[in-house]
Amino acid sequence: MMFPSSADRPAERAAWLRTELDRANHAYYVLDRPEIPDAEYDKLFKELEQIEADHPDLITPDSPTQRVGGAVAEGFAPIVHDVPMLSLNNGFEDSDVDAFNKRVSDVLQHGDVEYACELKFDGLAISLRYENGRFVQASTRGDGTTGEDVTANVRTIRSLPLTLHGDAVPKVIDVRGEVLMFKRDFERLNERQREAGQREFANPRNAAAGSLRQLDSRITAKRPLSFFAYGIGVLDGVPMPDTHSALLDWYASMGLPVNNERAVVRGAAGLLAFFRDVGARRASLPYDIDGVVYKVNRRDEQDRLGFVSRAPRFALAHKFPAEEALTRLLAIEVQVGRTGAITPVARLEPVFVGGATVTNATLHNEDEVRRKDILIGDTVIVRRAGDVIPEVVGAIKERRPADARPFTMPIQCPVCGSAIERLPDEAIARCTGGLVCAAQRKQALWHFAQRRALDIDGLGEKIIDQLVEQGLIRTPADLFSLGFATVAQLDRFADKSAQNLIDSLERARHTTLPRFIYALGIRHVGEATARDLARHFGSLDALMDASEEALLEVNDVGPVVAEAIRHFFSEPHNRMVIEQLRAAGVQWLEGPPAPRKPAGPLAGMTVVLTGTLPTLSRDAAKEMLEAAGAKVAGSVSKKTNYVVAGVDAGSKLTKAEELGISIVDEEGMRRLLEGK
Ligand code: IVH
Repeated sequence: MMFPSSADRPAERAAWLRTELDRANHAYYVLDRPEIPDAEYDKLFKELEQIEADHPDLITPDSPTQRVGGAVAEGFAPIVHDVPMLSLNNGFEDSDVDAFNKRVSDVLQHGDVEYACELKFDGLAISLRYENGRFVQASTRGDGTTGEDVTANVRTIRSLPLTLHGDAVPKVIDVRGEVLMFKRDFERLNERQREAGQREFANPRNAAAGSLRQLDSRITAKRPLSFFAYGIGVLDGVPMPDTHSALLDWYASMGLPVNNERAVVRGAAGLLAFFRDVGARRASLPYDIDGVVYKVNRRDEQDRLGFVSRAPRFALAHKFPAEEALTRLLAIEVQVGRTGAITPVARLEPVFVGGATVTNATLHNEDEVRRKDILIGDTVIVRRAGDVIPEVVGAIKERRPADARPFTMPIQCPVCGSAIERLPDEAIARCTGGLVCAAQRKQALWHFAQRRALDIDGLGEKIIDQLVEQGLIRTPADLFSLGFATVAQLDRFADKSAQNLIDSLERARHTTLPRFIYALGIRHVGEATARDLARHFGSLDALMDASEEALLEVNDVGPVVAEAIRHFFSEPHNRMVIEQLRAAGVQWLEGPPAPRKPAGPLAGMTVVLTGTLPTLSRDAAKEMLEAAGAKVAGSVSKKTNYVVAGVDAGSKLTKAEELGISIVDEEGMRRLLEGK
């Protein structure tokens, strides 16, 4: 049995929870490779505590509930804190903040308490001992009573003063604060790890933890760690500042890093205003935070409030909702975007995360699903950060059921039934039903009506929305059977504007081939390519029946564009809409096919540019070659006549050499242009 429930089998459930928690602990603290989100760990921990409270006989000495916090690792000497390092009470709701303020006010017997507000950094608590102004020792929090000696590692943190400035330097002081890694530094570190083929870190906090607990401090020295001071342990030789804010000012004056995002406020309203202000700016802060911390500012008031168990009564951590949670992946369906992009979407057992209930989350694309090794039926980590679309971060492989099965990309669009294609170099699969797919309808119509396409004046986005939503049009062809009465009943339409739209539809019937090709909205076919295609093939039918080879003959058309064009016209739905458009009277002048037979010394030749030329920009070189009648292609093939190579020419040059194609430099190119 996978998940014994606590109700019917408490002993088995407790044993399962212990194994699960132990493994999570090991992954987190020893491997610095977290397996489950913190919130999930807390949930399991609480459940185990509850079972043990209900059934004291089930408590074992090795239960994770019997030891608090991180253990002392082999290799670091234990250090007993002279003043214990405590934890903070947590709150999540406004009401928790009100209750905190009320408790404090009750004890202090006044209602206008002054608080120091600061950020709750998502790093590791650390205690720094300075003696007569010199840094002598650093220890981690450990279990709060005993930590680990990480002096050698902390000494490598650049922003930490090894000597304190100023005249009022204490004989002994424990400066407490947080070691963390800035987001930018974290990204760069991971980039380096990746390049060196080393394991990447899951998040800045784990990167900081892993770096601080390196046995080789030379490695730590290369890790970009930072520190912010926010607390104090032992103080000897100078008087304690009267307020928390004065303590931090004093720290700053001694050269210790103190964070600037802090404020002194009064009452619950002041606390909540700080919370909201920080919350709104959270994503743009250069480091991760998981909430804010409120501390009664006056030292004498702090002392009067004292402590309850292991946390001060004078402080509260007001935390943001957990951004990650675990749930079950029920199915993977695909969604079709406005541009035809197909996105796998996870259907989830509803889960509360990031302050909302989430039932769907994006999986981005097919490769991501494989890379993250996510199977249907898995227990997955769901992340919802701020207003960002919820995503599935990964799966808990240890909890994978036997019948879990992989996702396969459907071959047909779930909306319109057209083929789904995925071009070799692209991460995204797409529906090829550009003109008929309901998911792409509005986008397709909007593009079709653009000034540079069929130029249907008066057919704006809002109108298209209405026409599609009322089921009046499905494809661009339907536009041409719209009658005056239908248009006139739409929102925002008066008789005159309705007549105007009918008139511009009438005008749009007479168009040109380049405009029509562009209006079809074929992927990668912009205005210029549409013009080249029209000129090259002369008629729409010739273009529709062109092979990939024939398409590659066209100026600037490479394999990706050729493939997109072929895919578009191979879709029967698209051909049908084109027929309907013609039947509705959409027309243009067609000329004879005019494969370019330009004059000039390079007429009929294909040239490929690669590398940086000494005096010419790429565009300039291309223009000159084209003016001389050459077709400038993007890739080397047997049909290439010349490769013009500059500095740092890469694979194209190699390929040209392999195929035995003539290679010239800029000077050689100029000679060719002059016909020499
Ligand atoms: S004060 C006596 N201030 O939160 C109170 N802690 O749950 C001691 N933390 O282990 C902590 N930012 O790692 C304090 N501005 C801040 C903090 C902060 C982050 C962490 C710290 C500690 C944990 C307490």
